[in-house]
Amino acid sequence: LTTATLIAGTAGMAAAQQTVGFSQIGSESGWRAAETTLTRQQAEERGINLQFSDAQQRQENQIAAIRSFVAQGVDAILLAPVVATGWDSVLEEAAEAEIPVILLDRRVDSAEDLYMTAVGSDLVHEGEVAGDWLVGEVGDEECRVVELEGTTGSSPAIDRATGFRNALEGHDNIEIVRSQTGDFTRSGGKEVMESFLQAEGGGQDICALYAHNDDMALGAIQAINEAGLNPGEDILIVSIDAVPDIFQAMADGDANATVELTPNMAGPAFDALEAYWADGTEPEKFIQTDSTLYTQSDDPMAEYEARKDLGY
Ligand code: AHR
Repeated sequence: LTTATLIAGTAGMAAAQQTVGFSQIGSESGWRAAETTLTRQQAEERGINLQFSDAQQRQENQIAAIRSFVAQGVDAILLAPVVATGWDSVLEEAAEAEIPVILLDRRVDSAEDLYMTAVGSDLVHEGEVAGDWLVGEVGDEECRVVELEGTTGSSPAIDRATGFRNALEGHDNIEIVRSQTGDFTRSGGKEVMESFLQAEGGGQDICALYAHNDDMALGAIQAINEAGLNPGEDILIVSIDAVPDIFQAMADGDANATVELTPNMAGPAFDALEAYWADGTEPEKFIQTDSTLYTQSDDPMAEYEARKDLGY
C-alpha cells in the first residue's frame, strides 16, 4: 500500500468534522503528561474530536486501542508507540481501512508506507548533544559515567544510548561503567541510582550521570543526596526533556544540563492532517522537532517559568 492509497479515503474533508484516535503510552514522566495535555488542548482548539486511550505502558493495550479506533472508523490515528517492534499487523489493518496513522515522539521499525508521517526529534542526535556537553565539560579528566536508560526496546532508549556513545568516541578518558533501565520513571531512576551508588562503593568515583530523561535524573538526584554526595558537583548530571523540575534542579545547582524535547508533538501532527484533509497534501515522512541544550548558565528559573503551566 502506498501512502497515497492509504490516505485517499478522507482527503478534502474539513478539520472540524474529524475524529482522531490517540493511543498514548501512559503517564510515566512529566514530559508524557505534558504531551497528553497539549494534545487535548490542540484538538479542542481545532475542533477535532479526540478519542484518548491510555495504554498504561502495555503494547497489547495500544494494539487493542488501534483496533478499536479502526472499528469505529476514526479519520486518523495518533500513536506514541511504547516499543519499536511488533506493529506491522495492526498498522496494516489501519492501512487496509484507509486510516492515516501519525507516530508521535517514538519510532517503529515497520515499513514507512504503513504510517503517514512521524513527528519527533532526532533521538540519536539528542544523545549526541548530551554526550558532547559532557565531553566539553570534563576535558581530559578521567570520568566514570553511569547511565539510566529509558524503557527497554523503546526507540528513545535505543537511540539516546547510541548517540551518547557516538559523542564519546575518541574520548577514552570517559567510560560508561554502569547502564540499566529506570523505565523513564522518577522512582525507577532513584532505585537504580541507589543500586549504582552501592555497587560503586558509595559513588565517590562516579563522575557523571547520563539519564535518558529528566524524571529519572530527578529521582537519581534524591538518591545522590541521600548518599551524602552533592548532585551537580560531585556527580555531573545531564539528561533529556527540559521539564520544569529539571530547571528548578539546575537553579539549585543539583543538575547541570538537559536537552529539550518539545511535548507539543500534536501541533505539527494536526497541521499535517489538516493540510491533508483540506487538499490531499501529503507531509514529509519525518517532521523533526528541535533538540536544544540548556545548562545552568541559561537562566534556569526563566526556563522553569516558561514551562510550568504547560501540563507537566
Ligand atoms: O518518547 C519520549 C520519552 O518518553 C521522553 O523523553 C520521556 O520522558 C518519556 O517517557
